[in-house]
Amino acid sequence: VVADAAWRDEVRRLVDERDAVLLAHNYQLPEIQDIADHTGDSLALSRIAAASEASTIVFCGVHFMAETAKILAPDKTVLIPDARAGCSLADSITGAQLRAWKAEHPGAVVVSYVNTTAEVKAETDICCTSSNAVDVVASIPADREVLFCPDQFLGAHVRRETGRDNIHIWAGECHVHAGINGPELAERAAANPDADLFIHPECGCATSALYLAGEGIVPSEQVKILSTGDMVAQAKATKAKSVLVATEVGMLHQLRQAAPGIEFKAVNDRASCGYMKMITPAALLRALRENRDEVHVDPETAARARGAVQRMVEIGN
Ligand code: 13P
Ligand code: SF4
Repeated sequence: VVADAAWRDEVRRLVDERDAVLLAHNYQLPEIQDIADHTGDSLALSRIAAASEASTIVFCGVHFMAETAKILAPDKTVLIPDARAGCSLADSITGAQLRAWKAEHPGAVVVSYVNTTAEVKAETDICCTSSNAVDVVASIPADREVLFCPDQFLGAHVRRETGRDNIHIWAGECHVHAGINGPELAERAAANPDADLFIHPECGCATSALYLAGEGIVPSEQVKILSTGDMVAQAKATKAKSVLVATEVGMLHQLRQAAPGIEFKAVNDRASCGYMKMITPAALLRALRENRDEVHVDPETAARARGAVQRMVEIGN
């Protein structure tokens, strides 16, 4: 299947016929981003899924994102073009592991990143995404202990930003973002001294970016720790002529469209998420033609998870 005009016409015809809304995450292939009704970060897409009037949501992203849409909109049909599109970060904590961790810290407030399974969300008090993690943790009374899972780099960012010392952080990571490392960032920054640095807080290099800023190696106003959605907003606002981007490489397509006059370069151009790239033009067409893969969340688990996900959608809005 080639993403040509015939493919685009057929996809859009089927989307209308199914009364569907087509959502794509910023890490999707460019042709998938371009055909979607909405392309955005995980928080923006969750909000759109919750508010949509369409009867079917076709989620071009990974499985936990489609599950989150189903939790927020249980009466809608939610399709993902390939149900095998998982997430190494979501796999880094199970419901049983979280229950055991909670038992060690009775009374603690559990904050889980949206990159988790529905079972983990069902054990969670408030979910967050990278764009509102700091606001979510700041909303918790300062004297309450916090358990933050599963991403250690985002957790370290939240701890720094909130100044809390009563936050316990799970040692999970995303294999794509963890691989964008400090030495590589320092090398690229030295070769591009005028470039802004846009760093996703899941990256292994997030601490190094702040070190470069703190030591004056890179002027601090050039260093920005941002969710993928906030990167698009920042691209439109910055005066810089070039930007080094530390996140999954699918992001470059959105950034180049948002600010065509800026040169965007990946800190690590091998940082591609194989799960995100399982959503191919062929898989999208099949999903629409055959009404699959449908995403189901056990209704009892969804009911237990819904409050935490709704709080996430509301905070920082
Ligand atoms: P955001 O879209 O929230 O920035 O998340 C990045 C991510 O890794 C999703 O898998
Ligand atoms: Fe998960 Fe990482 Fe892929 Fe995002 S980039 S979906 S966190 S494995």
